[in-house]
Amino acid sequence: MSSEKTVETVIDAVTEAAPEIQAGLPGKRDYVEEDNPSGEDVLEADVWANGILRERITEIEGVGGYASEEDEEVTDCGDGYSVTVDPLDGSSNIPSNNIVGTILGIYDGSLPAKGNELVTSLYVVYGPLTSMVVADDDTVDIYVVTEEGRHLAEEDISIPDPSVYGFGGRRPKWTEGFREFAKVIEDELKLRYGGSMVGDVNQVINYGGIFSYPALSDRPEGKLRMQFEANPMAYIFENAGGASSDGKQSLLDAGAEELHQRTPVHLGNEELIEKLEKIL
Ligand code: F6P
Repeated sequence: MSSEKTVETVIDAVTEAAPEIQAGLPGKRDYVEEDNPSGEDVLEADVWANGILRERITEIEGVGGYASEEDEEVTDCGDGYSVTVDPLDGSSNIPSNNIVGTILGIYDGSLPAKGNELVTSLYVVYGPLTSMVVADDDTVDIYVVTEEGRHLAEEDISIPDPSVYGFGGRRPKWTEGFREFAKVIEDELKLRYGGSMVGDVNQVINYGGIFSYPALSDRPEGKLRMQFEANPMAYIFENAGGASSDGKQSLLDAGAEELHQRTPVHLGNEELIEKLEKIL
Protein backbone atom coordinates (compact mmCIF):
# COMPACT_ATOMS: atom_id res chain seq x y z
CA MET A 1 0.00 0.00 0.00
CA SER A 2 1.37 3.49 -0.83
CA SER A 3 2.02 5.86 2.06
CA GLU A 4 -0.81 8.19 0.83
CA LYS A 5 -3.19 5.22 0.86
CA THR A 6 -2.12 4.33 4.43
CA VAL A 7 -2.85 7.88 5.61
CA GLU A 8 -6.21 7.87 3.82
CA THR A 9 -7.11 4.50 5.36
CA VAL A 10 -6.29 5.77 8.87
CA ILE A 11 -8.49 8.87 8.29
CA ASP A 12 -11.27 6.57 6.97
CA ALA A 13 -10.98 4.37 10.08
CA VAL A 14 -11.48 7.43 12.33
CA THR A 15 -14.37 8.61 10.12
CA GLU A 16 -16.08 5.26 10.62
CA ALA A 17 -15.33 5.03 14.34
CA ALA A 18 -16.35 8.61 15.28
CA PRO A 19 -20.16 8.22 15.05
CA GLU A 20 -19.89 4.87 16.87
CA ILE A 21 -17.83 6.45 19.64
CA GLN A 22 -20.28 9.32 20.03
CA ALA A 23 -23.29 6.97 20.05
CA GLY A 24 -21.67 4.72 22.68
CA LEU A 25 -20.88 7.44 25.23
CA PRO A 26 -24.17 7.44 27.19
CA GLY A 27 -23.56 4.03 28.79
CA LYS A 28 -19.89 4.60 29.63
CA ARG A 29 -19.75 7.57 31.96
CA ASP A 30 -18.43 5.80 35.09
CA TYR A 31 -14.82 5.82 36.22
CA VAL A 32 -12.83 2.56 36.13
CA GLU A 33 -10.37 1.67 38.88
CA GLU A 34 -7.01 2.18 37.19
CA ASP A 35 -5.30 5.51 36.27
CA ASN A 36 -3.80 6.19 32.85
CA PRO A 37 0.02 6.42 32.34
CA SER A 38 -0.16 10.16 33.21
CA GLY A 39 -1.84 9.38 36.55
CA GLU A 40 -5.27 10.68 35.53
CA ASP A 41 -8.68 9.15 36.25
CA VAL A 42 -10.02 6.97 33.45
CA LEU A 43 -13.64 6.60 32.34
CA GLU A 44 -15.14 3.46 30.81
CA ALA A 45 -15.53 5.58 27.66
CA ASP A 46 -11.75 6.22 27.47
CA VAL A 47 -10.94 2.50 27.60
CA TRP A 48 -13.67 1.62 25.13
CA ALA A 49 -12.82 4.30 22.54
CA ASN A 50 -9.15 3.35 22.76
CA GLY A 51 -10.06 -0.32 22.17
CA ILE A 52 -12.03 0.51 19.01
CA LEU A 53 -9.32 2.74 17.55
CA ARG A 54 -6.43 0.44 18.51
CA GLU A 55 -8.09 -2.61 16.97
CA ARG A 56 -8.84 -0.87 13.67
CA ILE A 57 -5.70 1.23 13.25
CA THR A 58 -3.18 -1.52 14.09
CA GLU A 59 -4.71 -3.64 11.28
CA ILE A 60 -3.91 -1.07 8.59
CA GLU A 61 -1.05 -1.92 6.24
CA GLY A 62 1.67 0.71 6.48
CA VAL A 63 1.02 1.46 10.18
CA GLY A 64 4.01 0.26 12.23
CA GLY A 65 3.10 1.49 15.71
CA TYR A 66 0.04 2.59 17.70
CA ALA A 67 0.41 4.68 20.84
CA SER A 68 -2.40 5.98 23.00
CA GLU A 69 -2.57 8.33 25.93
CA GLU A 70 -4.32 5.42 27.67
CA ASP A 71 -1.57 2.82 27.03
CA GLU A 72 1.80 2.62 28.75
CA GLU A 73 3.70 1.36 25.68
CA VAL A 74 3.61 1.60 21.89
CA THR A 75 1.83 -1.35 20.24
CA ASP A 76 4.16 -2.63 17.53
CA CYS A 77 2.20 -3.69 14.45
CA GLY A 78 4.74 -3.95 11.63
CA ASP A 79 6.62 -1.50 9.44
CA GLY A 80 5.44 1.99 8.67
CA TYR A 81 4.02 5.13 10.23
CA SER A 82 3.57 5.63 13.97
CA VAL A 83 0.06 6.69 14.96
CA THR A 84 -0.63 8.49 18.24
CA VAL A 85 -4.14 8.78 19.63
CA ASP A 86 -5.83 10.62 22.45
CA PRO A 87 -9.06 8.60 22.13
CA LEU A 88 -11.26 10.90 24.26
CA ASP A 89 -9.57 14.18 24.98
CA GLY A 90 -11.19 16.13 27.82
CA SER A 91 -13.07 13.07 29.06
CA SER A 92 -13.60 14.70 32.47
CA ASN A 93 -16.22 16.71 30.53
CA ILE A 94 -18.28 13.57 29.90
CA PRO A 95 -20.05 13.35 33.30
CA SER A 96 -21.19 17.00 32.88
CA ASN A 97 -21.94 16.55 29.14
CA ASN A 98 -19.55 19.17 27.79
CA ILE A 99 -17.36 18.89 24.67
CA VAL A 100 -14.90 16.04 24.17
CA GLY A 101 -12.91 14.91 21.14
CA THR A 102 -10.36 12.58 19.60
CA ILE A 103 -6.87 13.72 18.56
CA LEU A 104 -4.68 11.70 16.18
CA GLY A 105 -1.20 12.18 14.72
CA ILE A 106 0.56 10.19 12.00
CA TYR A 107 4.36 10.39 12.36
CA ASP A 108 6.94 9.26 9.82
CA GLY A 109 9.34 8.06 12.53
CA SER A 110 9.42 5.93 15.64
CA LEU A 111 8.03 7.25 18.91
CA PRO A 112 8.68 9.47 20.72
CA ALA A 113 8.99 11.60 17.58
CA LYS A 114 9.40 15.32 16.98
CA GLY A 115 6.37 17.23 15.76
CA ASN A 116 8.08 18.00 12.48
CA GLU A 117 7.98 14.25 11.72
CA LEU A 118 4.18 14.46 11.43
CA VAL A 119 2.71 13.84 7.99
CA THR A 120 -0.94 14.28 8.96
CA SER A 121 -2.92 15.11 12.06
CA LEU A 122 -6.58 15.49 12.87
CA TYR A 123 -9.07 16.05 15.64
CA VAL A 124 -12.73 15.09 15.98
CA VAL A 125 -15.21 17.19 17.95
CA TYR A 126 -18.16 15.35 19.52
CA GLY A 127 -20.49 18.33 19.76
CA PRO A 128 -23.95 19.16 18.42
CA LEU A 129 -22.41 17.75 15.21
CA THR A 130 -19.49 15.40 14.85
CA SER A 131 -16.84 17.31 12.92
CA MET A 132 -13.28 16.52 11.92
CA VAL A 133 -10.41 18.92 11.20
CA VAL A 134 -7.66 17.34 9.09
CA ALA A 135 -4.23 18.79 8.27
CA ASP A 136 -2.52 17.11 5.37
CA ASP A 137 -0.12 18.29 2.63
CA ASP A 138 -0.08 21.94 3.81
CA THR A 139 -3.87 22.28 3.86
CA VAL A 140 -6.41 22.09 6.64
CA ASP A 141 -9.96 21.01 5.84
CA ILE A 142 -13.06 20.76 8.03
CA TYR A 143 -15.53 17.89 7.58
CA VAL A 144 -18.89 17.00 9.07
CA VAL A 145 -18.94 13.30 9.95
CA THR A 146 -22.04 11.09 9.91
CA GLU A 147 -22.63 7.35 9.63
CA GLU A 148 -22.59 7.85 5.85
CA GLY A 149 -19.02 9.21 5.89
CA ARG A 150 -17.29 12.59 5.98
CA HIS A 151 -18.55 15.56 4.01
CA LEU A 152 -16.28 18.49 3.24
CA ALA A 153 -17.60 21.60 4.97
CA GLU A 154 -14.68 24.04 4.57
CA GLU A 155 -11.64 23.58 2.36
CA ASP A 156 -8.11 24.88 2.92
CA ILE A 157 -8.95 27.05 5.92
CA SER A 158 -6.82 29.81 7.46
CA ILE A 159 -7.15 30.99 11.03
CA PRO A 160 -9.27 34.16 11.09
CA ASP A 161 -8.15 37.38 12.80
CA PRO A 162 -7.94 37.02 16.61
CA SER A 163 -11.17 37.14 18.57
CA VAL A 164 -11.13 34.56 21.45
CA TYR A 165 -8.72 33.11 24.03
CA GLY A 166 -8.68 30.19 26.47
CA PHE A 167 -5.98 29.69 29.12
CA GLY A 168 -5.65 26.59 31.32
CA GLY A 169 -4.26 26.40 34.85
CA ARG A 170 -4.93 28.79 37.74
CA ARG A 171 -3.66 32.37 37.58
CA PRO A 172 -1.68 32.17 40.91
CA LYS A 173 0.27 29.25 39.41
CA TRP A 174 1.05 31.04 36.14
CA THR A 175 4.56 32.47 35.74
CA GLU A 176 4.99 36.22 36.05
CA GLY A 177 5.65 36.46 32.29
CA PHE A 178 2.48 34.58 31.41
CA ARG A 179 0.42 36.74 33.80
CA GLU A 180 1.75 39.81 32.01
CA PHE A 181 0.88 38.33 28.61
CA ALA A 182 -2.60 37.34 29.85
CA LYS A 183 -3.30 40.97 30.88
CA VAL A 184 -2.64 42.14 27.33
CA ILE A 185 -4.82 39.40 25.82
CA GLU A 186 -7.70 39.83 28.28
CA ASP A 187 -8.02 43.47 27.19
CA GLU A 188 -8.12 42.54 23.50
CA LEU A 189 -10.02 39.24 23.18
CA LYS A 190 -13.05 37.41 24.53
CA LEU A 191 -12.68 34.47 26.97
CA ARG A 192 -13.76 31.02 25.75
CA TYR A 193 -12.60 28.13 27.96
CA GLY A 194 -14.40 24.84 28.45
CA GLY A 195 -11.73 22.47 29.82
CA SER A 196 -11.20 20.15 26.87
CA MET A 197 -8.31 20.90 24.55
CA VAL A 198 -10.27 19.83 21.47
CA GLY A 199 -13.22 22.12 22.28
CA ASP A 200 -11.01 25.07 23.25
CA VAL A 201 -8.65 24.74 20.30
CA ASN A 202 -11.61 24.38 17.97
CA GLN A 203 -12.88 27.81 19.08
CA VAL A 204 -9.53 29.33 18.12
CA ILE A 205 -9.40 27.53 14.76
CA ASN A 206 -12.88 28.87 13.95
CA TYR A 207 -12.73 32.37 15.47
CA GLY A 208 -8.99 33.20 15.68
CA GLY A 209 -7.08 33.98 18.87
CA ILE A 210 -5.00 31.90 21.22
CA PHE A 211 -5.21 28.73 23.35
CA SER A 212 -2.59 28.18 26.05
CA TYR A 213 -1.96 25.59 28.72
CA PRO A 214 1.21 27.24 30.06
CA ALA A 215 4.04 26.17 32.34
CA LEU A 216 2.90 26.42 35.98
CA SER A 217 5.04 27.27 39.03
CA ASP A 218 4.54 23.77 40.48
CA ARG A 219 4.47 22.10 37.06
CA PRO A 220 7.00 23.74 34.73
CA GLU A 221 6.37 21.03 32.14
CA GLY A 222 2.68 22.06 31.88
CA LYS A 223 -0.17 19.58 31.65
CA LEU A 224 -0.68 18.54 28.05
CA ARG A 225 1.03 15.59 26.38
CA MET A 226 3.52 16.36 23.60
CA GLN A 227 3.02 13.29 21.38
CA PHE A 228 -0.74 12.94 21.76
CA GLU A 229 -2.07 16.49 22.12
CA ALA A 230 0.50 19.24 21.55
CA ASN A 231 2.21 18.12 18.34
CA PRO A 232 -0.90 17.10 16.35
CA MET A 233 -2.62 20.39 17.24
CA ALA A 234 0.54 22.41 16.46
CA TYR A 235 0.70 20.76 13.03
CA ILE A 236 -2.89 21.84 12.33
CA PHE A 237 -2.25 25.43 13.45
CA GLU A 238 0.98 25.80 11.48
CA ASN A 239 -0.67 24.43 8.33
CA ALA A 240 -3.62 26.82 8.76
CA GLY A 241 -1.35 29.91 8.80
CA GLY A 242 -1.10 30.07 12.60
CA ALA A 243 1.77 29.29 14.96
CA SER A 244 2.64 27.10 17.93
CA SER A 245 5.06 27.44 20.82
CA ASP A 246 6.25 25.76 24.00
CA GLY A 247 7.12 29.25 25.23
CA LYS A 248 10.44 29.42 23.41
CA GLN A 249 10.15 27.68 20.03
CA SER A 250 7.67 26.04 17.71
CA LEU A 251 6.25 22.89 19.30
CA LEU A 252 7.12 21.08 16.07
CA ASP A 253 10.85 21.76 16.64
CA ALA A 254 10.90 20.80 20.33
CA GLY A 255 12.87 17.69 21.36
CA ALA A 256 10.97 14.50 22.15
CA GLU A 257 12.31 12.41 25.01
CA GLU A 258 9.47 10.29 26.38
CA LEU A 259 6.21 8.91 25.06
CA HIS A 260 4.04 10.49 27.76
CA GLN A 261 6.13 13.68 28.09
CA ARG A 262 4.25 16.89 28.91
CA THR A 263 4.89 20.35 27.49
CA PRO A 264 3.58 23.88 27.85
CA VAL A 265 1.33 24.58 24.85
CA HIS A 266 0.48 27.81 23.03
CA LEU A 267 -1.47 27.76 19.75
CA GLY A 268 -2.87 30.69 17.83
CA ASN A 269 -2.44 33.47 15.31
CA GLU A 270 1.18 34.15 14.44
CA GLU A 271 1.28 37.70 15.83
CA LEU A 272 -0.04 36.51 19.22
CA ILE A 273 2.51 33.71 19.50
CA GLU A 274 5.27 36.20 18.60
CA LYS A 275 4.04 38.58 21.30
CA LEU A 276 3.90 35.73 23.82
CA GLU A 277 7.45 34.56 23.11
CA LYS A 278 8.72 38.17 23.47
CA ILE A 279 7.03 38.64 26.86
CA LEU A 280 8.02 35.20 28.21
O1 F6P B 1 -5.31 16.63 28.91
C1 F6P B 1 -6.58 16.58 29.34
C2 F6P B 1 -7.34 17.88 29.39
O2 F6P B 1 -8.66 17.53 29.68
C3 F6P B 1 -7.29 18.73 28.09
O3 F6P B 1 -8.17 18.27 27.13
C4 F6P B 1 -7.65 20.10 28.62
O4 F6P B 1 -7.13 21.15 27.81
C5 F6P B 1 -7.06 20.13 30.00
O5 F6P B 1 -6.87 18.77 30.39
C6 F6P B 1 -7.96 20.83 30.98
O6 F6P B 1 -7.33 21.00 32.17
P1 F6P B 1 -7.96 21.86 33.37
O7 F6P B 1 -9.02 20.98 33.96
O8 F6P B 1 -6.80 22.04 34.30
O9 F6P B 1 -8.50 23.13 32.82
